[in-house]
Amino acid sequence: MRHFGQIARVPGDPILGLMEAFAADANPAKLDLGVGVYKDARGLTPIPRAVKLAEQRLVEGETSKSYIGGHGDALFSARLAELVLGAASPALAEQRAAASQTPGGTGALRLAADFIGHCLPGRGIWLSDPTWPIHETLFAEAGLRVGHYPYVGADNRLDVEAMLETLGRLPQGDVVLLHACCHNPTGFDLGQDDWQRVLEVVKARELLPLIDFAYQGFGDGLEQDAWAVRLFAEALPELLITSSCSKNFGLYRERTGALLVCAADTGKLQDVRSQLASIARNLWSTPPAHGAAVVASILDDDELKALWIDELDAMRQRVAALRQGLVEALRPHGLAERFAHIAVQRGMFSYTGLSPRQVQRLREEYSVYMVGSGRANVAGLDAQRLDQLASAIARVFS
Ligand code: LMR
Repeated sequence: MRHFGQIARVPGDPILGLMEAFAADANPAKLDLGVGVYKDARGLTPIPRAVKLAEQRLVEGETSKSYIGGHGDALFSARLAELVLGAASPALAEQRAAASQTPGGTGALRLAADFIGHCLPGRGIWLSDPTWPIHETLFAEAGLRVGHYPYVGADNRLDVEAMLETLGRLPQGDVVLLHACCHNPTGFDLGQDDWQRVLEVVKARELLPLIDFAYQGFGDGLEQDAWAVRLFAEALPELLITSSCSKNFGLYRERTGALLVCAADTGKLQDVRSQLASIARNLWSTPPAHGAAVVASILDDDELKALWIDELDAMRQRVAALRQGLVEALRPHGLAERFAHIAVQRGMFSYTGLSPRQVQRLREEYSVYMVGSGRANVAGLDAQRLDQLASAIARVFS
């Protein structure tokens, strides 16, 4: 008997698969705008200096490799909760909010998905159309009913009215996944007035928001990017937030993230956290220590924190300049207006509006790699090669 005889091959991951295809491309002029990693002017994904300094301290000071608990590193969780909810957060002061450490933001999403599946049976989850492809599969794998609300229309513009209209019809009590900032894949973020209106619908339909906050600091700034999260945390008694340290701390491979819960009171928070620890025990037992220890060391030290914020600000400003630069590079081709949205979008990604066919041509004819949906990782660009990219886009566009 062949145990594996019936197993069919599935297609590779649409985003991670691009890394392999890019590595295998022999063209020296190739350009990687696929997976969401930041690259500096040398084309490298740097380890922030604050991270290196924290790691040096950890190597010297670490005394044990014993397990950390089910909720992870307590100092990490406390400092991260302050970073996300704000040092003056009423929910933190009332001890009805806390973070559980997870393996990356994806681990936090999976923990949230299983929590909803186990503890809130029958609730569906609603995702923006479009959204990060892993949202689609992760919640479906966890057995949740997955629905969609409109977000960006066929004209590649944010459609807040259509979004609100659909949210207003969702089954009472369902979960709605919202991107706090730097919407993945589009880069189109809601304005503050839009968020207020979403909050009103969430209240009216008694929805449970799950806010995915994977890019804090990459949009408009650490505090500014947390605006909607804090609005919701102050207006609602119950909330789930997933946080990632992959991009803002450059800790991609260390898998460092957290699931934050706001509950009605301390007792209920502890009830929910007992469930999270129990679910996590069956997923990854206890989370990996290193990345969280690095983040805790940085956030708990004024000097390291100031250095990290400077480095994060520099990354954000560089991406903003690249957005502007790409639009300018498209101007001689008569395409600056057509692609003006690239400078308006926020975070790493741009939904360029290029069709799957145009994306395929960019890859086959110019070795430019981006996701088939037309999502480009602007943070992977190189200022010296904006003209090269603009010419390639102009050629596939004509
Ligand atoms: C992305 O969307 O490219 C990133 O979030 C990385 C990933 O895991 O997909």
